Amino acid sequence: MAHEFTDKTVLVTGGASGIGEAVALQLGREGAHVAVADIDLAAAEAVAQKVVDAGGSAQATTVDVGDPEAVKAMVEWTVKTFGHLHGAFNNAGIGGPSALPEDIDIAEYHKLMDVNLHSVFYGIKYQAPEIVKSGGGSIVNTSSILGLVGEVGVLPYVTSKHALVGMTKASALAYASQGVRVNSVHPGYINTPLLENNLEPEAIAGLTSLHPIGRLGEAEEVAEVVCFLLSDRSSFVTGSQYVVDGGYVTR
Ligand SMILES: NC(=O)c1ccc[n+]([C@@H]2O[C@H](COP(=O)([O-])OP(=O)(O)OC[C@H]3O[C@@H](n4cnc5c(N)ncnc54)[C@H](O)[C@@H]3O)[C@@H](O)[C@H]2O)c1
Repeated sequence: MAHEFTDKTVLVTGGASGIGEAVALQLGREGAHVAVADIDLAAAEAVAQKVVDAGGSAQATTVDVGDPEAVKAMVEWTVKTFGHLHGAFNNAGIGGPSALPEDIDIAEYHKLMDVNLHSVFYGIKYQAPEIVKSGGGSIVNTSSILGLVGEVGVLPYVTSKHALVGMTKASALAYASQGVRVNSVHPGYINTPLLENNLEPEAIAGLTSLHPIGRLGEAEEVAEVVCFLLSDRSSFVTGSQYVVDGGYVTR
């Protein structure tokens, strides 16, 4: 087993489920101290316990990533708990409203932007200075294939995920000279509760045909790429968009 993250502390938002959980578990196996942050504290604690049961080190905290004060407190808690911060996976996200633009509720639009987009700004704002203090490291932001191409009926989600590309590039340039790399990951449709909670089973089955590989992805397949980007194995990679989509955007 690789121990890429020995003595490193990595914070994972949305760590209680799906892609975030898979990343937390892999980081734990690879030797990191994992800070599992989620709005669902009980589920985050369960993931932290799974990391510990597998022989790793993890603690959980609650956060609403749409609240800047809560994000600041999450970063402070991580540094207080583990002594430092070397990496962060800004991953918490929601599907949000699905309708024609004219029928989208403005409050729901803003809520989606708070959770999927502004949250990542708050994260970088408080994480990057701590990572600089630790001697450098890596931040990965979860975008989507829908951060690279459009889709009918999900304007707020598509907008938030495209904006994360710009935020990733701007923050990569801001911190490149201080040893903090910033990249985004762009999953295709992945078998997680996000998909199951937002789509009917028939719709999920229909999505398979959009992936030339002939199936949906698994959270562990995204985690593999995220952990590469969080590790020093990707030491010359910054400002990049890593697509993990079974060929979806290549069609
Ligand atoms: N599943 C997919 O097909 C897919 C594809 C592309 C991108 N993504 C993105 O991947 C990320 C993770 O999605 P997932 O599929 O693992 O979903 P998921 O629903 O399994 O996990 C998301 C986690 O985020 C947490 N969360 C939601 N709102 C939060 C908030 N305000 N503060 C803190 N935590 C909050 C949830 O409690 C949950 O544990 C999201 O950003 C999503 O947009 C998912």
